[in-house]
Amino acid sequence: MIDFDAIPRSRLNGLLRSAPKAELHIHIEGSLEPELIFELAQRNGLSLPYANVNALRAAYAFKDLQSFLDIYYAGASVLRTEADFHAMAMAYFARAAADHVVHAELFFDPQTHTERGVPVQAVIQGLARACADARRLHDLDASLILCFLRHLSEAAAFDVLEQALPHRQHFIGVGLDSSERGHPPEKFARVFAKCRALGLHVVAHAGEEGPPAYIESALDVLKVERIDHGVRCVESPALVQRLAASRMPLTVCPLSNVKLCVYPSMAQHQLPALLAAGLCVTVNSDDPAYFGGYLNDNFVATFEALPQLGVREAHQLMRNSFEASFASDQAKAGWHAQLDRAFAGA
Ligand code: HPA
Ligand code: ZN
Repeated sequence: MIDFDAIPRSRLNGLLRSAPKAELHIHIEGSLEPELIFELAQRNGLSLPYANVNALRAAYAFKDLQSFLDIYYAGASVLRTEADFHAMAMAYFARAAADHVVHAELFFDPQTHTERGVPVQAVIQGLARACADARRLHDLDASLILCFLRHLSEAAAFDVLEQALPHRQHFIGVGLDSSERGHPPEKFARVFAKCRALGLHVVAHAGEEGPPAYIESALDVLKVERIDHGVRCVESPALVQRLAASRMPLTVCPLSNVKLCVYPSMAQHQLPALLAAGLCVTVNSDDPAYFGGYLNDNFVATFEALPQLGVREAHQLMRNSFEASFASDQAKAGWHAQLDRAFAGA
């Protein structure tokens, strides 16, 4: 047993940074830094509507999810070749490893690229090769989750799934992202049923901007194993109770929520309440190049703004990240022991 009360608060920042953790909600296209956007644009002979890196970064002022997505898809448009996808993911893995991320499950949006004529094979092979390199270079265990864009049709989701299935061995599951409002989970009921039948893991963004009813239909209709974001569950006490009782993971992204105005400030974030209610909450970076930081930046900003979170909660959040992952029970047990050692030695 770790005596959390015996660990002084002065150790908190160091523990947040150095303890092992998993990242379960990162859109790899959202890790594309402005410098790499310009480099890839030049490599691929594309021109950007921004004069330089600073001008692009200055455009990163969002009022809601859609205002972000417009810029995010524009940024992703410089990705053309297998090597581009590999370079993007390797840049993320270097930063994640520096944050002591030992396991990562990466979202990718193939439709963003196939719509521009990029073959799905270039996307998946570039990312899969990077996952293998992350293991070799950083001892970081990584896997891929294919996301369907919910602003497009279910037929389009079936179509990209078909294109991706020859590469089935390279992704472990499917998710649902992009514009949430007006695109409820049930729009994708049949394609998710097919994915479950194929043995893929299933997750979905729900309750970021959408109502608690979207979280319920993600659970009941899509039968997801995790909810991405899910913070609007607080509006329904019955739903909070259901999520807690089932230990349904919520992959929460604190800096993202503040940048996209889900909360007016970090001090108003509901993460402490969710954790106190017994939910399996995890901390994640979502789109770190756009929202002001990678995983440790999220941990540090969250704990700085919310004094009710202490050493015990830090350990719980990191433990949750392993518990909620799709890794094997054996891998989870190893990480839990590694995590306990980090805190026991503090
Ligand atoms: N929400 C929905 N779709 C997304 C996001 C997000 O935070 N990031 C990238 N695609
Ligand atoms: Zn997301």
